[in-house]
Amino acid sequence: MTDHMLIRGGTVVHRETTTRSDVLVVDGIISLVGEHLDIPAGTTIVDAEGCWVGPALVDLHTHLREPGGEEAETVASGARAGVLGGYSAVMAMPNTSPAIDSSAVVAQVLALGQASCLDVAVAGAITVGRLGERLAPLAEMAELGVTFFTDDGTGVQNAGLMRRAMEYARGLNVVIADHCEDDALAGDGCMNESSLSSELGLVGRPALAEEVMVARDLALAQHTGCELHLLHLSTVGSAALVAQAKQAGVNVTAEVAPHHLLLTEELCREYDPLYKVHPPLRTANDVEALRMALRSGGIDAVATDHAPHAPETKDRPFAEATPGMLGLQHAFALTREALGGADADPVLLFRVLSRTPAKIARLTQSDQRRGGHSAHGGEIAVGEDANLVVIDPEGRPVVRSEVLASKSRNTPYEGRTLLGAVRHTIVRGEIVVNDGVAQR
Ligand code: DOR
Repeated sequence: MTDHMLIRGGTVVHRETTTRSDVLVVDGIISLVGEHLDIPAGTTIVDAEGCWVGPALVDLHTHLREPGGEEAETVASGARAGVLGGYSAVMAMPNTSPAIDSSAVVAQVLALGQASCLDVAVAGAITVGRLGERLAPLAEMAELGVTFFTDDGTGVQNAGLMRRAMEYARGLNVVIADHCEDDALAGDGCMNESSLSSELGLVGRPALAEEVMVARDLALAQHTGCELHLLHLSTVGSAALVAQAKQAGVNVTAEVAPHHLLLTEELCREYDPLYKVHPPLRTANDVEALRMALRSGGIDAVATDHAPHAPETKDRPFAEATPGMLGLQHAFALTREALGGADADPVLLFRVLSRTPAKIARLTQSDQRRGGHSAHGGEIAVGEDANLVVIDPEGRPVVRSEVLASKSRNTPYEGRTLLGAVRHTIVRGEIVVNDGVAQR
Protein backbone atom coordinates (compact mmCIF):
# COMPACT_ATOMS: atom_id res chain seq x y z
CA MET A 1 0.00 0.00 0.00
CA THR A 2 1.33 3.47 -0.78
CA ASP A 3 1.92 5.75 2.13
CA HIS A 4 1.00 9.45 1.71
CA MET A 5 1.97 12.30 4.03
CA LEU A 6 1.25 16.00 3.59
CA ILE A 7 3.27 18.59 5.49
CA ARG A 8 0.80 21.43 5.43
CA GLY A 9 1.00 25.20 5.85
CA GLY A 10 4.73 25.70 6.47
CA THR A 11 7.44 27.96 5.09
CA VAL A 12 9.84 25.80 3.12
CA VAL A 13 13.49 26.77 3.54
CA HIS A 14 15.34 26.25 0.25
CA ARG A 15 19.06 26.73 -0.46
CA GLU A 16 18.72 30.48 -1.09
CA THR A 17 15.11 31.45 -0.40
CA THR A 18 11.95 30.51 1.46
CA THR A 19 8.50 29.82 0.00
CA ARG A 20 5.10 29.17 1.49
CA SER A 21 4.46 25.58 0.31
CA ASP A 22 2.93 22.26 1.25
CA VAL A 23 5.08 19.18 0.79
CA LEU A 24 3.62 15.82 -0.25
CA VAL A 25 5.67 12.74 0.58
CA VAL A 26 4.81 9.41 -1.02
CA ASP A 27 6.58 6.28 0.21
CA GLY A 28 9.45 8.25 1.70
CA ILE A 29 10.08 10.43 -1.37
CA ILE A 30 9.04 14.06 -1.86
CA SER A 31 6.53 13.92 -4.70
CA LEU A 32 4.97 17.41 -4.82
CA VAL A 33 5.89 20.85 -3.47
CA GLY A 34 3.38 23.66 -3.88
CA GLU A 35 0.35 25.43 -2.50
CA HIS A 36 -3.04 23.85 -1.74
CA LEU A 37 -2.14 20.43 -3.07
CA ASP A 38 -4.91 17.92 -3.85
CA ILE A 39 -4.41 14.93 -1.68
CA PRO A 40 -5.75 11.40 -1.79
CA ALA A 41 -8.00 10.16 1.02
CA GLY A 42 -6.09 8.52 3.84
CA THR A 43 -3.16 10.97 3.65
CA THR A 44 -1.47 11.64 7.00
CA ILE A 45 -1.50 15.38 7.68
CA VAL A 46 1.50 16.92 9.42
CA ASP A 47 0.66 20.39 10.71
CA ALA A 48 3.37 22.94 9.86
CA GLU A 49 1.30 26.12 10.20
CA GLY A 50 3.63 28.99 11.20
CA CYS A 51 6.66 26.68 11.02
CA TRP A 52 9.83 26.31 8.99
CA VAL A 53 10.11 23.15 6.92
CA GLY A 54 13.73 22.36 6.12
CA PRO A 55 16.07 19.47 5.44
CA ALA A 56 16.57 17.56 8.70
CA LEU A 57 19.85 18.40 10.41
CA VAL A 58 23.13 16.51 9.99
CA ASP A 59 25.70 16.32 12.78
CA LEU A 60 29.34 15.88 11.87
CA HIS A 61 30.43 15.24 15.44
CA THR A 62 28.48 12.92 17.76
CA HIS A 63 29.84 10.73 20.54
CA LEU A 64 27.49 7.76 20.74
CA ARG A 65 29.83 5.88 23.15
CA GLU A 66 29.01 2.41 21.82
CA PRO A 67 30.84 0.06 22.09
CA GLY A 68 32.21 0.33 25.60
CA GLY A 69 30.63 3.45 27.08
CA GLU A 70 27.00 2.32 27.29
CA GLU A 71 26.55 3.75 30.80
CA ALA A 72 26.87 7.23 29.23
CA GLU A 73 25.09 6.73 25.88
CA THR A 74 24.05 4.08 23.39
CA VAL A 75 23.49 4.41 19.68
CA ALA A 76 19.74 4.11 20.36
CA SER A 77 19.64 6.80 23.10
CA GLY A 78 21.92 9.18 21.18
CA ALA A 79 19.81 8.70 18.06
CA ARG A 80 16.68 9.59 20.04
CA ALA A 81 18.36 12.78 21.30
CA GLY A 82 19.27 13.46 17.67
CA VAL A 83 15.77 13.18 16.22
CA LEU A 84 14.36 15.28 19.08
CA GLY A 85 16.92 17.89 18.03
CA GLY A 86 15.74 17.67 14.41
CA TYR A 87 18.58 15.47 13.08
CA SER A 88 18.19 12.71 10.50
CA ALA A 89 21.88 11.72 10.35
CA VAL A 90 24.88 11.82 12.66
CA MET A 91 28.55 10.97 12.33
CA ALA A 92 29.58 8.61 15.17
CA MET A 93 33.00 9.44 16.58
CA PRO A 94 35.54 6.62 17.02
CA ASN A 95 36.75 7.26 20.60
CA THR A 96 34.88 4.23 21.85
CA SER A 97 36.24 1.19 23.63
CA PRO A 98 37.51 -0.53 21.58
CA ALA A 99 38.13 2.38 19.22
CA ILE A 100 36.46 2.25 15.80
CA ASP A 101 39.74 1.38 14.09
CA SER A 102 38.88 -1.74 12.07
CA SER A 103 36.18 -2.95 9.70
CA ALA A 104 34.82 -5.24 12.44
CA VAL A 105 34.01 -2.34 14.78
CA VAL A 106 32.78 -0.18 11.88
CA ALA A 107 30.36 -2.98 10.93
CA GLN A 108 29.19 -3.30 14.53
CA VAL A 109 28.35 0.42 14.86
CA LEU A 110 26.74 0.54 11.40
CA ALA A 111 24.46 -2.34 12.42
CA LEU A 112 23.48 -0.53 15.64
CA GLY A 113 22.80 2.57 13.54
CA GLN A 114 20.56 0.63 11.17
CA ALA A 115 18.39 -0.41 14.09
CA SER A 116 18.14 3.19 15.38
CA CYS A 117 15.71 5.96 14.43
CA LEU A 118 18.14 7.90 12.20
CA ASP A 119 21.03 7.29 9.81
CA VAL A 120 24.37 6.74 11.53
CA ALA A 121 27.54 7.33 9.52
CA VAL A 122 30.72 6.13 11.17
CA ALA A 123 34.05 7.93 11.48
CA GLY A 124 37.05 5.61 11.53
CA ALA A 125 40.16 6.23 13.63
CA ILE A 126 43.29 7.45 11.86
CA THR A 127 45.62 5.45 14.09
CA VAL A 128 45.35 2.04 15.73
CA GLY A 129 43.59 2.44 19.09
CA ARG A 130 43.79 6.23 18.55
CA LEU A 131 47.22 5.96 20.11
CA GLY A 132 48.93 8.09 17.47
CA GLU A 133 51.58 5.44 16.75
CA ARG A 134 50.57 3.40 13.67
CA LEU A 135 48.09 4.05 10.88
CA ALA A 136 44.80 2.18 11.21
CA PRO A 137 43.61 0.17 8.17
CA LEU A 138 41.95 3.09 6.41
CA ALA A 139 41.37 1.21 3.14
CA GLU A 140 39.63 -1.68 4.90
CA MET A 141 37.25 0.75 6.62
CA ALA A 142 36.76 2.76 3.41
CA GLU A 143 35.54 -0.49 1.78
CA LEU A 144 32.57 -0.33 4.16
CA GLY A 145 31.83 3.22 3.05
CA VAL A 146 33.76 5.14 5.75
CA THR A 147 34.74 8.50 4.27
CA PHE A 148 35.73 10.41 7.41
CA PHE A 149 38.72 9.58 9.62
CA THR A 150 39.73 11.17 12.90
CA ASP A 151 41.36 10.37 16.25
CA ASP A 152 38.97 12.87 17.87
CA GLY A 153 39.39 13.24 21.59
CA THR A 154 43.05 13.82 20.78
CA GLY A 155 44.88 15.20 17.79
CA VAL A 156 47.43 13.20 15.81
CA GLN A 157 50.58 14.56 17.46
CA ASN A 158 53.18 13.15 15.07
CA ALA A 159 53.40 15.34 11.93
CA GLY A 160 55.10 12.59 9.91
CA LEU A 161 52.29 10.15 10.66
CA MET A 162 49.68 12.78 9.85
CA ARG A 163 51.38 13.44 6.54
CA ARG A 164 51.21 9.74 5.71
CA ALA A 165 47.56 9.55 6.77
CA MET A 166 46.77 12.45 4.45
CA GLU A 167 48.64 10.86 1.55
CA TYR A 168 46.67 7.63 1.97
CA ALA A 169 43.42 9.50 2.45
CA ARG A 170 43.94 11.41 -0.75
CA GLY A 171 44.39 8.15 -2.66
CA LEU A 172 41.26 6.73 -1.07
CA ASN A 173 39.28 9.94 -1.67
CA VAL A 174 38.30 10.27 1.99
CA VAL A 175 38.42 13.13 4.51
CA ILE A 176 40.94 13.51 7.33
CA ALA A 177 39.39 15.35 10.28
CA ASP A 178 41.58 16.54 13.13
CA HIS A 179 41.04 17.44 16.76
CA CYS A 180 43.56 20.25 16.85
CA GLU A 181 45.33 20.39 20.19
CA ASP A 182 49.07 20.00 20.61
CA ASP A 183 49.47 17.84 23.74
CA ALA A 184 52.78 19.40 24.74
CA LEU A 185 51.20 22.85 24.78
CA ALA A 186 47.81 21.81 26.20
CA GLY A 187 49.44 19.76 28.96
CA ASP A 188 47.12 19.15 31.90
CA GLY A 189 45.23 22.36 31.21
CA CYS A 190 41.55 22.16 32.08
CA MET A 191 40.25 25.60 31.05
CA ASN A 192 41.33 28.41 28.72
CA GLU A 193 44.76 29.81 29.61
CA SER A 194 44.19 33.44 30.61
CA SER A 195 44.28 35.82 33.55
CA LEU A 196 41.09 34.10 34.71
CA SER A 197 42.75 30.66 34.85
CA SER A 198 45.50 32.21 37.00
CA GLU A 199 42.93 33.85 39.22
CA LEU A 200 41.05 30.58 39.65
CA GLY A 201 44.22 28.59 40.20
CA LEU A 202 43.36 26.21 37.35
CA VAL A 203 45.94 25.07 34.80
CA GLY A 204 45.28 26.67 31.42
CA ARG A 205 45.04 25.19 27.91
CA PRO A 206 46.31 27.95 25.64
CA ALA A 207 44.75 29.02 22.34
CA LEU A 208 48.19 28.36 20.95
CA ALA A 209 47.81 24.60 21.53
CA GLU A 210 44.98 24.64 18.99
CA GLU A 211 46.43 27.15 16.55
CA VAL A 212 49.81 25.42 16.23
CA MET A 213 48.10 22.24 15.10
CA VAL A 214 45.64 24.05 12.83
CA ALA A 215 48.59 25.72 11.08
CA ARG A 216 50.45 22.41 10.80
CA ASP A 217 47.45 20.56 9.38
CA LEU A 218 46.76 23.31 6.85
CA ALA A 219 50.37 23.11 5.64
CA LEU A 220 50.15 19.31 5.39
CA ALA A 221 46.85 19.50 3.51
CA GLN A 222 48.31 22.03 1.11
CA HIS A 223 51.28 19.76 0.51
CA THR A 224 49.37 16.49 0.12
CA GLY A 225 46.19 17.80 -1.54
CA CYS A 226 44.15 15.85 1.01
CA GLU A 227 40.63 16.97 1.94
CA LEU A 228 40.97 18.24 5.52
CA HIS A 229 38.20 18.97 8.01
CA LEU A 230 39.00 20.81 11.25
CA LEU A 231 36.89 19.83 14.24
CA HIS A 232 35.44 22.15 16.91
CA LEU A 233 37.52 25.29 16.31
CA SER A 234 37.46 27.64 19.28
CA THR A 235 39.76 30.62 18.74
CA VAL A 236 39.92 33.84 16.78
CA GLY A 237 43.38 32.77 15.54
CA SER A 238 42.10 29.43 14.18
CA ALA A 239 39.32 31.19 12.29
CA ALA A 240 41.89 33.55 10.72
CA LEU A 241 44.21 30.69 9.74
CA VAL A 242 41.39 28.79 8.02
CA ALA A 243 40.21 31.90 6.16
CA GLN A 244 43.75 32.49 4.89
CA ALA A 245 44.19 28.87 3.82
CA LYS A 246 40.89 28.90 1.94
CA GLN A 247 42.05 31.95 0.04
CA ALA A 248 45.22 30.09 -0.84
CA GLY A 249 43.12 27.24 -2.26
CA VAL A 250 43.67 24.62 0.48
CA ASN A 251 41.00 21.90 0.41
CA VAL A 252 39.74 22.56 3.94
CA THR A 253 36.44 22.79 5.79
CA ALA A 254 35.88 23.65 9.44
CA GLU A 255 33.24 23.32 12.11
CA VAL A 256 32.35 25.11 15.33
CA ALA A 257 30.31 23.76 18.24
CA PRO A 258 27.27 25.62 19.64
CA HIS A 259 29.00 25.97 23.04
CA HIS A 260 31.93 27.80 21.45
CA LEU A 261 29.43 30.16 19.81
CA LEU A 262 27.60 30.95 23.05
CA LEU A 263 29.56 30.26 26.23
CA THR A 264 32.75 31.83 27.57
CA GLU A 265 35.45 30.97 30.10
CA GLU A 266 33.69 33.21 32.64
CA LEU A 267 31.36 30.28 33.31
CA CYS A 268 34.28 28.35 34.84
CA ARG A 269 34.29 30.75 37.81
CA GLU A 270 32.11 28.46 39.91
CA TYR A 271 34.37 25.46 39.18
CA ASP A 272 31.32 23.65 37.77
CA PRO A 273 32.60 20.73 35.65
CA LEU A 274 29.60 21.07 33.32
CA TYR A 275 31.63 23.83 31.66
CA LYS A 276 34.73 21.74 31.15
CA VAL A 277 35.28 20.80 27.50
CA HIS A 278 38.16 20.28 25.06
CA PRO A 279 39.01 22.59 23.46
CA PRO A 280 37.97 24.84 26.36
CA LEU A 281 35.45 27.68 26.44
CA ARG A 282 37.33 30.83 25.42
CA THR A 283 36.72 34.59 25.58
CA ALA A 284 33.95 36.85 24.28
CA ASN A 285 36.37 37.98 21.58
CA ASP A 286 36.76 34.41 20.32
CA VAL A 287 33.00 33.86 20.40
CA GLU A 288 32.44 36.97 18.29
CA ALA A 289 35.09 35.95 15.74
CA LEU A 290 33.62 32.44 15.41
CA ARG A 291 30.13 33.86 14.83
CA MET A 292 31.48 36.17 12.14
CA ALA A 293 33.40 33.33 10.48
CA LEU A 294 30.25 31.21 10.39
CA ARG A 295 28.26 34.02 8.82
CA SER A 296 30.94 34.71 6.19
CA GLY A 297 31.55 31.04 5.32
CA GLY A 298 35.08 31.04 6.76
CA ILE A 299 33.76 28.32 9.06
CA ASP A 300 31.47 25.98 7.18
CA ALA A 301 29.34 24.08 9.65
CA VAL A 302 27.99 23.80 13.17
CA ALA A 303 28.69 20.40 14.74
CA THR A 304 27.55 19.52 18.24
CA ASP A 305 30.46 17.55 19.75
CA HIS A 306 27.66 15.87 21.73
CA ALA A 307 29.74 14.32 24.53
CA PRO A 308 27.67 12.43 27.09
CA HIS A 309 29.39 11.52 30.36
CA ALA A 310 28.12 9.48 33.29
CA PRO A 311 28.03 11.24 36.70
CA GLU A 312 30.86 9.03 38.05
CA THR A 313 33.29 10.73 35.68
CA LYS A 314 31.69 14.17 35.29
CA ASP A 315 30.67 15.08 38.87
CA ARG A 316 34.22 15.51 40.10
CA PRO A 317 36.51 18.42 40.94
CA PHE A 318 36.96 20.59 37.81
CA ALA A 319 40.52 19.53 37.06
CA GLU A 320 39.67 15.81 37.28
CA ALA A 321 36.28 15.76 35.53
CA THR A 322 35.94 14.36 32.00
CA PRO A 323 35.66 17.08 29.34
CA GLY A 324 32.56 17.42 27.19
CA MET A 325 28.89 18.43 27.20
CA LEU A 326 25.63 17.32 25.60
CA GLY A 327 24.65 19.06 22.39
CA LEU A 328 22.35 17.18 20.03
CA GLN A 329 18.93 17.89 21.43
CA HIS A 330 19.10 21.68 21.42
CA ALA A 331 21.67 22.66 18.79
CA PHE A 332 19.27 24.35 16.39
CA ALA A 333 17.89 26.89 18.88
CA LEU A 334 21.32 27.51 20.42
CA THR A 335 22.85 28.21 17.02
CA ARG A 336 19.97 30.50 16.20
CA GLU A 337 20.56 32.38 19.44
CA ALA A 338 24.24 32.81 18.48
CA LEU A 339 23.40 33.98 14.96
CA GLY A 340 21.00 36.76 15.86
CA GLY A 341 18.10 35.15 17.71
CA ALA A 342 14.72 35.96 16.20
CA ASP A 343 16.52 37.82 13.37
CA ALA A 344 18.69 34.88 12.32
CA ASP A 345 18.16 33.88 8.70
CA PRO A 346 16.67 30.37 8.39
CA VAL A 347 18.52 29.91 5.07
CA LEU A 348 21.83 30.35 6.92
CA LEU A 349 20.74 28.09 9.80
CA PHE A 350 19.83 25.20 7.50
CA ARG A 351 23.01 25.78 5.51
CA VAL A 352 25.34 25.44 8.50
CA LEU A 353 23.33 22.76 10.35
CA SER A 354 22.18 20.57 7.46
CA ARG A 355 23.22 21.24 3.88
CA THR A 356 26.94 21.87 4.32
CA PRO A 357 27.57 19.19 6.98
CA ALA A 358 25.74 16.67 4.75
CA LYS A 359 28.16 17.53 1.96
CA ILE A 360 31.24 17.23 4.18
CA ALA A 361 30.00 13.89 5.52
CA ARG A 362 29.21 12.78 1.93
CA LEU A 363 25.64 12.08 2.90
CA THR A 364 23.92 13.96 0.09
CA GLN A 365 23.43 10.78 -1.96
CA SER A 366 22.00 7.52 -0.70
CA ASP A 367 24.53 4.70 -0.39
CA GLN A 368 23.96 0.96 -0.17
CA ARG A 369 27.07 0.59 1.95
CA ARG A 370 27.33 2.33 5.34
CA GLY A 371 24.17 0.61 6.51
CA GLY A 372 22.31 1.73 3.38
CA HIS A 373 21.74 5.35 4.38
CA SER A 374 19.43 7.74 2.55
CA ALA A 375 20.24 11.22 1.18
CA HIS A 376 20.42 14.16 3.61
CA GLY A 377 20.69 17.93 3.49
CA GLY A 378 19.18 18.20 0.02
CA GLU A 379 16.63 20.32 -1.76
CA ILE A 380 13.01 20.25 -0.72
CA ALA A 381 12.11 19.14 -4.22
CA VAL A 382 10.40 16.35 -6.12
CA GLY A 383 12.35 13.09 -6.12
CA GLU A 384 14.39 13.81 -2.97
CA ASP A 385 14.44 11.49 0.06
CA ALA A 386 12.13 12.83 2.77
CA ASN A 387 14.53 13.63 5.61
CA LEU A 388 12.80 16.73 6.91
CA VAL A 389 12.30 18.80 10.02
CA VAL A 390 9.45 21.09 11.01
CA ILE A 391 10.50 23.81 13.45
CA ASP A 392 8.25 26.29 15.20
CA PRO A 393 10.32 29.49 15.34
CA GLU A 394 7.98 30.91 18.00
CA GLY A 395 8.26 27.88 20.30
CA ARG A 396 9.89 28.58 23.69
CA PRO A 397 10.87 25.25 25.25
CA VAL A 398 12.85 25.25 28.47
CA VAL A 399 15.81 22.87 28.81
CA ARG A 400 15.10 20.41 31.62
CA SER A 401 17.38 17.51 32.26
CA GLU A 402 14.41 15.20 32.78
CA VAL A 403 13.33 15.71 29.14
CA LEU A 404 16.74 14.80 27.73
CA ALA A 405 16.76 11.61 25.69
CA SER A 406 20.47 11.08 26.32
CA LYS A 407 21.44 8.59 29.01
CA SER A 408 23.61 11.36 30.46
CA ARG A 409 22.64 14.65 32.06
CA ASN A 410 25.70 16.86 31.45
CA THR A 411 23.99 19.81 29.78
CA PRO A 412 25.25 23.32 30.55
CA TYR A 413 21.87 24.75 29.46
CA GLU A 414 19.59 23.53 32.29
CA GLY A 415 16.78 26.06 32.80
CA ARG A 416 17.54 28.04 29.64
CA THR A 417 14.55 29.15 27.55
CA LEU A 418 15.23 28.35 23.92
CA LEU A 419 14.19 30.25 20.86
CA GLY A 420 12.41 27.77 18.59
CA ALA A 421 11.10 24.23 19.03
CA VAL A 422 11.49 21.10 16.91
CA ARG A 423 7.93 19.93 16.28
CA HIS A 424 8.29 17.09 13.81
CA THR A 425 11.26 15.13 12.49
CA ILE A 426 10.79 12.91 9.46
CA VAL A 427 13.41 10.30 8.64
CA ARG A 428 13.07 8.40 5.35
CA GLY A 429 9.44 9.46 5.23
CA GLU A 430 8.65 8.19 8.73
CA ILE A 431 7.49 10.61 11.45
CA VAL A 432 10.00 9.82 14.20
CA VAL A 433 9.15 12.92 16.26
CA ASN A 434 5.54 14.05 16.32
CA ASP A 435 4.66 17.30 18.08
CA GLY A 436 7.91 17.18 20.01
CA VAL A 437 7.47 13.57 21.13
CA ALA A 438 9.80 10.77 19.96
CA GLN A 439 7.79 7.93 18.44
CA ARG A 440 10.28 5.14 19.15
O1 DOR B 1 35.37 17.80 25.39
C1 DOR B 1 35.49 16.87 24.62
N1 DOR B 1 34.90 15.69 24.85
N2 DOR B 1 36.27 17.02 23.54
C2 DOR B 1 36.56 15.98 22.73
O2 DOR B 1 37.21 16.18 21.74
C3 DOR B 1 36.10 14.62 23.07
C4 DOR B 1 34.87 14.67 23.85
C5 DOR B 1 34.49 13.35 24.47
O3 DOR B 1 34.60 12.33 23.80
O4 DOR B 1 34.01 13.34 25.61
